[in-house]
Amino acid sequence: MHGKRNLDLDVLHRAAKKDVPPALDADEAARLGYEHDKVLSKHHFETGEHPVVRIEHLEKSFGDTQVLRDVNLNVWNGEIVVVLGPSGSGKSTMLRCINLLETPTSGHIMIEDQEITGASKTNTAELRRDLGMVFQQFNLFPHLSAKENVVIGQMKVLGKSRKEAEEEAMKQLAVVGLAERADFKPPQLSGGQQQRVAIARAVAMHPKVLLFDEPTSALDPELVRGVLAVMRDLALNSGMTMVVVTHEMGFARDVADRVVFMENGVVVEQGLPEDVFDHPKEDRTREFLGSIK
Ligand SMILES: Nc1ncnc2c1ncn2[C@@H]1O[C@H](COP(=O)(O)OP(=O)(O)O)[C@@H](O)[C@H]1O
Ligand SMILES: [Mg+2]
Repeated sequence: MHGKRNLDLDVLHRAAKKDVPPALDADEAARLGYEHDKVLSKHHFETGEHPVVRIEHLEKSFGDTQVLRDVNLNVWNGEIVVVLGPSGSGKSTMLRCINLLETPTSGHIMIEDQEITGASKTNTAELRRDLGMVFQQFNLFPHLSAKENVVIGQMKVLGKSRKEAEEEAMKQLAVVGLAERADFKPPQLSGGQQQRVAIARAVAMHPKVLLFDEPTSALDPELVRGVLAVMRDLALNSGMTMVVVTHEMGFARDVADRVVFMENGVVVEQGLPEDVFDHPKEDRTREFLGSIK
């Protein structure tokens, strides 16, 4: 309980210092979030539902460079949010703030109504296990087999037995079509296969939210399709909550419940994929979409 109280005080202190309003009351935030998002997402809202991720007035600077400016975003249970935007717009920084890899300069991030932005080092580890991340560069351990890469976090972070972790690893490797490659090490796998191992590893942790940072950008074109197929299957059939930064417009159009367009550290526009792609409201969105066709 002490930890929680210290955390709240810490958050209030920082909020007061930066002149940021304290986080909203959870029920009020859920109600306002629903009113805001109900026409912007294909998500099927439950009565009184609270978002899984709630970002309020998020700001992040590196030195004098302000990278995120007053970002406000909810992600709902099972929702697939695709984030688009030019390079340097702050997409990775936003994901890294959600995943506690960066400390926000100010603002609030809640996971299931629990403030994570003021988290002390001790509960960072606990909070981070709720957040899965798939990186552009896979970030697998090169000296471990595909199976071991999926096993290790389950044992170390979740405290599972080797037997349980191996069962789960084989299950998730089968889902991504790599059961036969379980004993191969990353250098013996194609980039697409490595990324599918990384997805299996993230899913095996059963996070509350799975974050993807340009998961296909480092792949040869012919390998992109297989990774997108795995992500599509995950999005449509697993009920997983996903935030996906990608330039794959076909994926965004087909799979997203909501598309968010960021530029210059600001959420410029968000909405249903057909609205954002076919009838963008903002000139900057139109220009960006024109530039990548
Ligand atoms: N650790 C860092 N130190 C300084 N500047 C950074 C750091 N990380 C990101 N930036 C800057 O923040 C801006 C946004 O970067 P990023 O979030 O990676 O954008 P995106 O993922 O949309 O391409 C860029 O101008 C980048 O140079
Ligand atoms: Mg990036």
